[in-house]
Amino acid sequence: MKPLIVYQSRTGNTRIIVDTIASILKADVFQVENAGSDHFKGRTLVGFGSGIYWTMVDRKIYESASFLPPECKVFMFITSGMGSKFMLRLYWYFIKMKFDRFGLKLVGNWDCRGYDQHPISKWMGISKGRPNRTDIESAEQFALKMKMYE
Ligand SMILES: Cc1cc2nc3c(=O)[nH]c(=O)nc-3n(C[C@H](O)[C@H](O)[C@H](O)COP(=O)(O)O)c2cc1C
Repeated sequence: MKPLIVYQSRTGNTRIIVDTIASILKADVFQVENAGSDHFKGRTLVGFGSGIYWTMVDRKIYESASFLPPECKVFMFITSGMGSKFMLRLYWYFIKMKFDRFGLKLVGNWDCRGYDQHPISKWMGISKGRPNRTDIESAEQFALKMKMYE
């Protein structure tokens, strides 16, 4: 069965990465609101993508992760205005903790910056122009690694 990618992208940055990864994995793609339990049945590789909103991945991502059978391999990718290093990679700590709680195996993680378009911070131009060509090439490399788990 094809890999599945479930994502949240409120301002379009993560969607760019979704398209990049999905085209390499030839994955089915659903926005998290549209991904019901039936979409997860029989999958052996599922990728979750999200922007960071108020320091967190969209919580609906975790709700949908609860549909997964424990033997399913999972990868996660995020885009954020400040970059994960700014937060000492704490995002990854929480994401791993959540997936561990569902007994899921996180086989890969990837992140890059994404232009912060929140009305309060847009004027600051945080990460304007990201994801850029280099980010997309990095996402392609990540997708090729994830292909091993198909
Ligand atoms: C409502 C909102 C809250 C955000 N909160 C954060 C944050 O806490 N930390 C951060 O680094 N970036 C934050 N950002 C910036 C986004 O993480 C970044 O632009 C990301 O690429 C958005 O992904 P998307 O375009 O796929 O929705 C926020 C953006 C929005 C719109």
